[in-house]
Amino acid sequence: MQTFAIEARGLVKKYGDFTAVQGIDFAVPTGAIFALLGPNGAGKTTTIHMLTTLIAPSAGTAAVAGFDIVRAADQVRARIGVTFQEIAVDQDLTGREVLDIHGRLYRQPSALRRQRISALVELVQLGDALDRRVRTYSGGMKRRLELARGLMTDPEVLFLDEPTQGLDPQNRVGIWSYIRELNRTRGLSLLLTTHYMDEAEALANLVGIVDHGRLVAEGAPDALVAALGADLIRVRGQGDTSHFAREVATLPFVSRVDSDASNNAVLVYVDSGSSRLVDVIGVSNGNGFHVDDVTVARPSLGDVFLHYTGRALRD
Ligand SMILES: Nc1ncnc2c1ncn2[C@@H]1O[C@H](COP(=O)(O)OP(=O)(O)O)[C@@H](O)[C@H]1O
Ligand SMILES: [Mg+2]
Repeated sequence: MQTFAIEARGLVKKYGDFTAVQGIDFAVPTGAIFALLGPNGAGKTTTIHMLTTLIAPSAGTAAVAGFDIVRAADQVRARIGVTFQEIAVDQDLTGREVLDIHGRLYRQPSALRRQRISALVELVQLGDALDRRVRTYSGGMKRRLELARGLMTDPEVLFLDEPTQGLDPQNRVGIWSYIRELNRTRGLSLLLTTHYMDEAEALANLVGIVDHGRLVAEGAPDALVAALGADLIRVRGQGDTSHFAREVATLPFVSRVDSDASNNAVLVYVDSGSSRLVDVIGVSNGNGFHVDDVTVARPSLGDVFLHYTGRALRD
């Protein structure tokens, strides 16, 4: 078995003068769940399209399941499953037909197709809906069908592009549990993309944070967060944040300070939030910064994103 399910080195994708992906490097160990986290337009889908051999990179290389995505594209395709960001199935077909056609595309014999379909329907709990037209499905059911389709060929590596986009919270949590289950019971390696930091936090062993086509940080979610500081005091207010931010950074127990301009907030990373609160707020006095509210919390991946990009993930 390969050590790495995916290894990307210097992947670039240009569209004319515009560079959508500007040299991305990462490695996904076999059996891991890797999340590419970043805002819309960061280059996540473009990266998935290169890794799944749909588009050719402009530069760089990558191996998926040990095979080069350009020179051995057929071997890569034989070992991967993909679900796309936009629901791609023909809505006039039944769920069963969608899965069956997919198996036929891969020349699976009918007995194998039947066997796979019944196992997958169990897994994603489509039940009787399997023989209804897809257009009658809820958003969550369509996503589950897509997931089942991606698994028809029993892939080694599964790519999920925004697997819960547009779903309500209950359905999102449902999809998360299927993804975890697949990873746990089959040892499937997964690369998913998301612009939801809670999704990356909930699922991923490793996260790559992408912005403007670049990987700005990579690591285990806990480690990325811990590198910022133990606790985060978020001070929101009115007036000039820059002087306050500079002053508070000089306090000995402050590990770093970020400004979240779009929310008029200053993020102060400290060793222990509750015991430092009074000192941090004290610095705002006479600084032309009027404090409206203060919260103390553990930092999140959203804070990691802000730290590396200078922008909130929601912007
Ligand atoms: N076929 C294309 N032609 C030109 N620009 C494209 C094309 N596909 C994507 N882009 C641009 O590349 C950037 C990255 O897009 P995408 O990979 O879809 O980002 P994400 O999935 O992170 O939202 C965006 O600015 C997008 O407009
Ligand atoms: Mg996308």
